[in-house]
Amino acid sequence: MKIITVEDQLQGAQIAVAKIKKILSHKPGVFGLATGSSPLEIYRQLSQSKLDFSNSISINLDEYVGLAPNHPQSYHYFMKQNLFNNKQFLHSYIPDGLNPNAQEVENEYEQIIKDHPIDLQILGIGQNGHIGFNEPLTSFDSRTHQVALTKSTIDANARFFDNADEVPKYAYSMGIGTIMKAKEIVFVAYGEKKAKAVHQMIDGPVTIDVPASVLQTHPNVTVIIDHKAGALL
Ligand code: GLP
Repeated sequence: MKIITVEDQLQGAQIAVAKIKKILSHKPGVFGLATGSSPLEIYRQLSQSKLDFSNSISINLDEYVGLAPNHPQSYHYFMKQNLFNNKQFLHSYIPDGLNPNAQEVENEYEQIIKDHPIDLQILGIGQNGHIGFNEPLTSFDSRTHQVALTKSTIDANARFFDNADEVPKYAYSMGIGTIMKAKEIVFVAYGEKKAKAVHQMIDGPVTIDVPASVLQTHPNVTVIIDHKAGALL
């Protein structure tokens, strides 16, 4: 893992955007996208850039089960607001949260990723070390699957809903094995709330107790953190 400590999200996003630009200078890319506050500045900079994604593909990590694409807390809505309204891709894939048939969602999504291997995956981390929505104890071999969210994740995401009861209890997420297939991973984490998870991910053992620790075994990961997220390293 290459670890880069930045002053702020602005600087962190510049590094991520430069990597995206490099891929686009060779060919249209397949970009794995993440939601959450951590990649927001990346999407802002991409939106304001002259980069052309009209021949590129985007594939998002995850989506809540049960939220319609126009629900303000759905990841469909998030991506539209923060990137897709400004940058159109040839095709943008996000798991279909309204399809109750998990098996179907899983198979379809894995096929999409097989057909479009991800060149660069943007990745954040949950406070409990989750990546995508892969909570602790998820198998490192997992593929796209339906996930029961942990209390820690529901509580952390409750700030976006009126109250914790409204946070969906399930999500569809790329599996850890799916994420690990990306050719390159750009990881971003900011703030003291992420310090413990970042420490465990980088300095701890590779263990399913900390899903992000699997990244130690990936050949091309850039970890972008600020001083607060890196405080325990
Ligand atoms: C959610 C998403 C993750 C994201 C995490 C952290 O759980 N499923 O992909 O990494 O939130 O979000 P934030 O960047 O807002 O801290």
